[in-house]
Amino acid sequence: MIMKKTKYFPVMTDDLKVNTILDFDIFMQTNNNIVLFRKGNHPFTEETLDNLAEHKVRTIFISEDEKEKFEKYYRTLHDSTNIGVSMKGCEAPFDNPENIEKYYKSHFNYYPIEKSNLLPGSKVDFNVYKKLDIDVELYFSPHNENDLSDIVPEDVHSSPFPIVIHNDEIPLYKEYIKNISVEYAKKDGYPLESQYSIIRENSKFIIKDILNDPRSGEVTQKASELVETLISSILDNQTNFYSLLKITTHDYYTYTHSLNVCSMSIGLGTQLKLKRDPDLIELGLGALLHDVGKCSIEPRILNKPGKLTEDEYKNVQNHVLASKELLEDSNIQIPQKSTITIMQHHEKLSGNGYPNKLRGNQVHLYGRIGAIVDFYDALTTERPYKKAYSPFEAFQLLSEVKEDYDQQLIKKFIVMLGTQGSR
Ligand SMILES: [Fe+2]
Repeated sequence: MIMKKTKYFPVMTDDLKVNTILDFDIFMQTNNNIVLFRKGNHPFTEETLDNLAEHKVRTIFISEDEKEKFEKYYRTLHDSTNIGVSMKGCEAPFDNPENIEKYYKSHFNYYPIEKSNLLPGSKVDFNVYKKLDIDVELYFSPHNENDLSDIVPEDVHSSPFPIVIHNDEIPLYKEYIKNISVEYAKKDGYPLESQYSIIRENSKFIIKDILNDPRSGEVTQKASELVETLISSILDNQTNFYSLLKITTHDYYTYTHSLNVCSMSIGLGTQLKLKRDPDLIELGLGALLHDVGKCSIEPRILNKPGKLTEDEYKNVQNHVLASKELLEDSNIQIPQKSTITIMQHHEKLSGNGYPNKLRGNQVHLYGRIGAIVDFYDALTTERPYKKAYSPFEAFQLLSEVKEDYDQQLIKKFIVMLGTQGSR
């Protein structure tokens, strides 16, 4: 008798809702085996989720035979009729020019900061704002005019709003971060999460500076040091580097995107057992600077809250060639192979990418890695006018366009993100 081999597909635990009945079996991966974790027709409870989180499991598996049941469950939850390819709804009223102006103002003048770096009870000498959809609202402040305090509130970490500061006050915030890290370092058992939160914030400062002034003579050194730090942070914590390093924002910024693409590329390179020197360094530098040419695009186009016109889209696509020109006539000195990620992260194996419409093997491994992580980060990043795709939807999309992306790498990428802890 020939036994049929069961196939499974991965699902992020984030895509399951607590207190719903799952009418399909769920499986877990242990070493190289897929084992039954729970039979179907049982409620998925907080306890189940905690149990999975305790084992650092963020991906479970479902049998292909029960795919239809899962898709029905997923559709009911997300009220979407077309998993993976649905356009996410518009949330803010961006049909009003006044609102667009407000949005641009809040986007360009304010800088998103990590709540976890604000120490409850400490004093600040800069204003801290809540970021609303298209505007900001003062949250706490050293200027006591509105009876606001300069003390960081106890519940700041659970505030539902993203937090921002004015660009002019970034130096004050940098100083605050420096002092906080000294404070933390004095404590016994400096928590890993706090250490990485400081690494993320300092990395953001560096890449923001690089992208603001890519022609500055310091770019090569700053970028190299940052990539070394990120590689060490990833190699030190391979099982949860992504949850520790991923920067989550309410909006798109080239500097946060560049950092996420860099850490995911190094992570994927590590999975592929690439050498630290020179492979991960070359790959990391290229990934960090992959969108450096975006500094030549009109910021209002790059951050437009809505669909681009055809001309605007062409302008955005031009960032790859703009990066090439910038590298040719600036002081940036990176290994020749780092330019591959920069030049090829929008190429597709089908030949439908840009700028050179490369096909199949013409796209180098570094280009293939860049293309996958760039697309994944863009999909899973929220914008004020568009909800982010869940990891599951993003994987689904990447797997659906089989002819465009390297499916072997996508499998590795899914496994890599699936084994990462959550924060
Ligand atoms: Fe790009």
